[in-house]
Amino acid sequence: MRTATYGSVSFVGSSAAARQVMADVETAARSEAKVLITGETGVGKDVVARLLHLQSARRHTALSAINCAGMPDTLLESELFGHVRGSFTGAFRDKVGLLEAADRGTAFLDEAGEMSARMQGVLLRFLETGEVQRVGSERGARVVNVRIIAATNRDLLQQVGAGAFREDLYYRLNVIRIHVPPLRQRAEDVPLLFEHFVRLFSLQYDVAPRALTREAAEVLMAYRWPGNVRELKNLVEQLVVRAPGEAVRSHDLPAELQGPVRVATTAADGTVAGEDGPEALARELVRRMLSEGASFWTVVHQPFMERDLSRQHVRAVVRAGLEQTLGNYRMLVELFNMQQADYKRFLGFLRKHDCHVPFHPFRVARVPASAVAGAPRVAYREAAGM
Ligand SMILES: Nc1ncnc2c1ncn2[C@@H]1O[C@H](COP(=O)(O)OP(=O)(O)OP(=O)(O)O)[C@@H](O)[C@H]1O
Ligand SMILES: [Mg+2]
Repeated sequence: MRTATYGSVSFVGSSAAARQVMADVETAARSEAKVLITGETGVGKDVVARLLHLQSARRHTALSAINCAGMPDTLLESELFGHVRGSFTGAFRDKVGLLEAADRGTAFLDEAGEMSARMQGVLLRFLETGEVQRVGSERGARVVNVRIIAATNRDLLQQVGAGAFREDLYYRLNVIRIHVPPLRQRAEDVPLLFEHFVRLFSLQYDVAPRALTREAAEVLMAYRWPGNVRELKNLVEQLVVRAPGEAVRSHDLPAELQGPVRVATTAADGTVAGEDGPEALARELVRRMLSEGASFWTVVHQPFMERDLSRQHVRAVVRAGLEQTLGNYRMLVELFNMQQADYKRFLGFLRKHDCHVPFHPFRVARVPASAVAGAPRVAYREAAGM
């Protein structure tokens, strides 16, 4: 078997390791036991969780997913258990939590290894009793029937050893374990995944697919893939948009894949990026916004939230835009086809995800050709509002 597909979710791979993962998913789907999915970042833990839910008897309900990383306790608790109006500042109305919403379904607790000690205790209590009590509620708790799938890219046993993760919670979650090995340990999946993503992106961008030459396949199979399948997927997207229809030769691949030597360029704000780094894809995304009228929310924000774009990509997009507007963030909103009313949301998004780029270097250091040719410069002097 090369691919396990359910609905829009596919797990591609023909290596023994990939087949083992697919077999583990099938077995787990037949039971109701809790599942812990482990593996490095980008290996496909999300895909495994979705596939497992879609193969299980609970597939008729939606999979309720939550990312436990980077959320303050109070927020995570209210997301999981819900809250009643007035239970804390900003709680304007009653809210159903994820666990209650997932009753008779599946809840996916992503990055479960990042939970604080307090939240580990709260989760353990829930796993023991199945009881959900909304934050601030006086009413009795409600018992729900939820299957839990958790995922982590940490070595939880090591965390247990270091006193950072509760041992009792570890054993509660780790009833069935599905480990997704890193891509470098299943190199034979690389060409297959490559083809899969070529198909995906050539359809998405409506361009001719690219074939992989043997020499390029060898380079890809020898590479370490620290970002695993996500890194491969991002690379294929860049390759597909850059030269549709052309065969991929080894010299088309970024320098870091070939060996330790890497060509670097320095952007206006001092950021160093590889020639074939995020800049190439960023240019294509900016082109789609500028020439095709696509909005930032669609071509950048959404893929970023789905983790198909990295922070580096978003920053590269912002840099490319700031070059056009000479550092003016307000004009960027228009340039990227957003409503002016979206300005705050746009800045909030950039700040929250650390994608904000200083505007000064673009205001002083660069004069675009259009300005030299006599384009009005009034707008550039407008306060950047930052
Ligand atoms: N075997 C696979 N077949 C097809 N696509 C895959 C496979 N593995 C991963 N992907 C794709 O690669 C990307 C990263 O996978 P995913 O989000 O599941 O990784 P993850 O292990 O959850 O990463 P993280 O630890 O960062 O959350 C996704 O776009 C996913 O669709
Ligand atoms: Mg994930």
